[in-house]
Amino acid sequence: MRRKLTTPIMYDNNPTLDGIKQIDESRQGTALYKEQWADSFAPGGKQFYIESYGCQMNFSDSEIVASILAEVGYTPTRNAEQSDLILINTCSIREKAEETVRKRLRAFESIKQERPGTMVGVLGCMAERLKKKWLEEEKLVDLVVGPDAYRDLPKLIGAAEDGQRMINVLLSREETYSDINPVRLESNGITAFISIMRGCDNMCSFCVVPFTRGRERSRDPFSILAEATNLFENGYREVTLLGQNVDSYKWDNPETGQHVDFADLLEMVAQINPLLRVRFSTSHPKDMTDKVLQNMARYDNICKYIHLPVQSGNSRVLELMNRTYDRPWYENRIEAIRQILPDAAVSSDIIAGFCSETEEEHQDTLSIIEWANFSMSYMFYYSERPGTLAAKRYADDVPLEVKKRRLNEIIRLQTAISLRHNQADIGKTFEVLIEGDSRKSDQDFCGRNSQNKMIVFPKKEGLKPGDYTMVTVKDATSATLLGDIAS
Ligand code: SAH
Ligand code: SF4
Ligand code: F3S
Repeated sequence: MRRKLTTPIMYDNNPTLDGIKQIDESRQGTALYKEQWADSFAPGGKQFYIESYGCQMNFSDSEIVASILAEVGYTPTRNAEQSDLILINTCSIREKAEETVRKRLRAFESIKQERPGTMVGVLGCMAERLKKKWLEEEKLVDLVVGPDAYRDLPKLIGAAEDGQRMINVLLSREETYSDINPVRLESNGITAFISIMRGCDNMCSFCVVPFTRGRERSRDPFSILAEATNLFENGYREVTLLGQNVDSYKWDNPETGQHVDFADLLEMVAQINPLLRVRFSTSHPKDMTDKVLQNMARYDNICKYIHLPVQSGNSRVLELMNRTYDRPWYENRIEAIRQILPDAAVSSDIIAGFCSETEEEHQDTLSIIEWANFSMSYMFYYSERPGTLAAKRYADDVPLEVKKRRLNEIIRLQTAISLRHNQADIGKTFEVLIEGDSRKSDQDFCGRNSQNKMIVFPKKEGLKPGDYTMVTVKDATSATLLGDIAS
């Protein structure tokens, strides 16, 4: 029997309210592996264990890392205790995210004591942010590799195997890993993520991402189409196109001069096959064009769901955040969605207690949540990040208790609105892509509708994951819809 490492869950700095736990980016730090690889593991080969934190792009990067490591004979395992290489792909977005990673490293210390040959590598945004501090502060760390340096891993690992401690945190203006076919880790075989761009040029004042991920660059569309087509041919039925700001995707064909923007790319991916659903994340309100919305309306297989983070409902705070839009602009984008895509669901990210935010300004955030009728939101309180514009320019002057109280109010309101949003679906029938068994019962399937709502329903003979089926909603909680297959 293989010993299982307990999957660590990464909770954010947010309090628990009414039993709802806020999980960072809704993601769990996950031991990534695929059962059949562990079984096909060749004796004598080397094994790596990888744990990922943060946003979907980081999870997607871990799949690129797995692909690079496969080339030098490393197979993934879920057993950190027996691996030759432990990697932790880290997130810097909030202080709490960094603390979680530091705590996880303590758990790896005992593994390293038992098996001194085990190498430990720090990847991702914390590697980029803290650079050689890792080697100074954490004795167990052998490798520090930033998000643009993963191609260098084989060389760095080779040197680390010889006992050297290695670091590469160079950021690139070109790297998109477009030629690397990611090894799908922890996959349900039905849904997959495709990174279409890297980095971010936006400089929101609270955000560390431009510093950890570098300049924005878009991947060539043909490699994206090839990846999506390949996934479809291998049974996948949904792809999510990933970028920090997908609306600023742009690519110019050096040979023909043809310009491809995000709306064009969406259309190209949607045309691969009507049975391949297309999603995307994240949209930035300043860049989301009507052309994107119109292309979404033209293709049934482009899901009617937009994650459009507002951050704050107050124009003064938005300006301090350097979001480059104000409240009326955001409202205009929501109105465009309502008009062009009347069935679409919109979700959001919200920050409570940004520098100098007043009670009235906090009320504006509550009122935009109500007005926009978000189907759900990821909600956080402000966490100052060293080196950001906000850290340099503004005092982090909203007391922690006030931040927490405001966040609680936001969570309470959003939970009520999510419940109302979901209850409005009772009696409606949706097309659902079956993703697998529901978490609670193997008698039930789960899958999402176009609006990204998870629906749980009793299985029916002949249906399997990857199939589409019509489901009528019978009941709803704030997080899930419950239904029956429509007869
Ligand atoms: N590129 C995306 C967001 C990526 S980070 C966008 O622009 O919408 C995900 C979310 O984390 C952000 O939307 C924001 O709500 C939150 N976040 C980022 N920095 C933060 C900080 N310093 N404190 C609290 N929340 C933060
Ligand atoms: Fe951060 Fe803003 Fe870029 Fe999003 S758009 S990653 S919040 S700087
Ligand atoms: Fe975190 Fe880096 Fe993503 S800071 S949210 S892992 S881009």
